[in-house]
Amino acid sequence: MTRRPFIAGNWKMHLDRRSIADFCASIKDADLPGDVTVGVFPPFVYLAETVDALAGTGVVVGAQTCRPEEKGAFTGEVAAVQVKDVGATHVIVGHSERRHVMGETDADVRARLDAALGCGLDVVLCLGETLDERKAERTSDVVLGQLAAGTKGLDGETLASRVTLAYEPVWAIGTGLTATPEQAQEVHALVRGRLAEDFGDGVAQRVVVQYGGSVKPANVADLMSCPDVDGALVGGASLAWDSFSALIAFERQEAPQ
Ligand code: PGA
Repeated sequence: MTRRPFIAGNWKMHLDRRSIADFCASIKDADLPGDVTVGVFPPFVYLAETVDALAGTGVVVGAQTCRPEEKGAFTGEVAAVQVKDVGATHVIVGHSERRHVMGETDADVRARLDAALGCGLDVVLCLGETLDERKAERTSDVVLGQLAAGTKGLDGETLASRVTLAYEPVWAIGTGLTATPEQAQEVHALVRGRLAEDFGDGVAQRVVVQYGGSVKPANVADLMSCPDVDGALVGGASLAWDSFSALIAFERQEAPQ
């Protein structure tokens, strides 16, 4: 089963109106590969204009989080239905910065995932262990626990077609420390194995699992050559078109000798 690679830029709280307009212009001029899904996740204030700027390019545009309630007194928050309303198609849930900086629990993440799927958005569900958890050999417990909390009871077809998983070891995010391809593959295979147990092998083989954590042009090809690594969720290296375009062309990147 070949899964369609998905390379996505999570712009976090970076860039501004001008740099995003320039970035979108570069995307429009680019000859994007037909067999890779490309996505960008801008800050909320630029979401609608990014959707408009990239209309017709095939590039997926999504939000970095959402609030599960449809409306209400949640000053500063944005509802999943509002993300959908401006034409975005995806939302990231459970990013480690949401879990660890904003204190979102597995239940909070699941509520966001359900709200997003419920209003027609596709989801990127992030999973990943901290350095302390890895050192304590709790990686599989933590990742599989987050996976169960995020996916239990979902319909298999919905999971396979509308949920992307992103394994992002917290110790590798923004630190320059990338998981080795072996470390990434080990966890990705573990995740897919659990999906096979819970949803059947047919579903497990279709779910796209991205790796995230200091992905850059120099390491993307090695990571993408792992059988269970189907894409990348990229922070730092997605902020400049030069490096993001190199990531999209991952098959042509060579690791430095
Ligand atoms: P990074 O971030 O590529 O800057 O490590 C990845 C992420 O947080 O999604």
